[in-house]
Amino acid sequence: MRLNGKVAIITGGASGMGRSTAILFAREGACVVVADVDRSAGEQAVAEITAAGGKAIFQSCDMQVESQVEELVKTAEAHFGKLDILFNNAGIEQPRTPSDELDTALFERVIDVNLKGTFLGCKYAIQSFLRNGGGVIVNNSSVSAYANVGCNLSYAASKGAIMSLTRVLAIEYARRKIRVNAICPGVIDTGMNRRNLDLAEDPAALEQAWMSATPMGRMGTGEEIAETVLYLASDQSSFTTGIGLLIDGGRVAT
Ligand SMILES: NC(=O)c1ccc[n+]([C@@H]2O[C@H](COP(=O)([O-])OP(=O)(O)OC[C@H]3O[C@@H](n4cnc5c(N)ncnc54)[C@H](O)[C@@H]3O)[C@@H](O)[C@H]2O)c1
Repeated sequence: MRLNGKVAIITGGASGMGRSTAILFAREGACVVVADVDRSAGEQAVAEITAAGGKAIFQSCDMQVESQVEELVKTAEAHFGKLDILFNNAGIEQPRTPSDELDTALFERVIDVNLKGTFLGCKYAIQSFLRNGGGVIVNNSSVSAYANVGCNLSYAASKGAIMSLTRVLAIEYARRKIRVNAICPGVIDTGMNRRNLDLAEDPAALEQAWMSATPMGRMGTGEEIAETVLYLASDQSSFTTGIGLLIDGGRVAT
């Protein structure tokens, strides 16, 4: 039970990597707040956790809206007494588009959800950690911060900025018992990539391109991501801060 007595917020916890992480964290003893814009899927994740004997609640939260993020942290504190861990995971994709044709409103939306949402999560979690004597943040960046995955400028820009934000916060709060790290997943089999495939002109060709860019020749799973988030969120990584941990089947090594 590596998270016994810990309280964790998982944004985007209704689906994909967030859902897998919420289930694993609860199994490891954490009290989990599943936060998402998708109430129905979020409540299903909570029902699965509680049916297995874990502790979890759902909180509706749009990470673009500051008052809702502030309320999310207050809810964790009110319900479970404190906050120890934030997995800042909520994010959206950008459909593949030549950058000179990218709709400016879509650019702003991707930056708002992925980057501003990550900033707001960090801002209110850190305020809570400072009241509580410390805490841990794991931000969800991407291999897109390092490798060109093609025609998704706003997504890559948001994920690159999440790495910069992670390093700034890690240094700023290193002596206040707050650790801030990021994960950089490669191609993971979640709703996001199923939607990317559905939107592709030739889904089979896109999937083949992903596989040939990944030395391990397969997609990662939400469960593999959850195990890495658990490592970074737990005391097992107590001397680690300011890093982006690649979980990419070897992609960036190529
Ligand atoms: N799937 C991949 O290959 C991949 C690779 C690298 C990074 N990521 C990142 O992983 C994270 C999780 O994505 P996933 O692949 O599990 O996809 P997913 O679509 O299955 O899950 C994303 C979740 O975020 C929620 N969400 C979206 N906008 C939100 C908002 N404004 N406020 C709160 N919740 C919101 C969605 O409802 C959904 O439950 C994202 O940040 C994504 O960019 C994904």
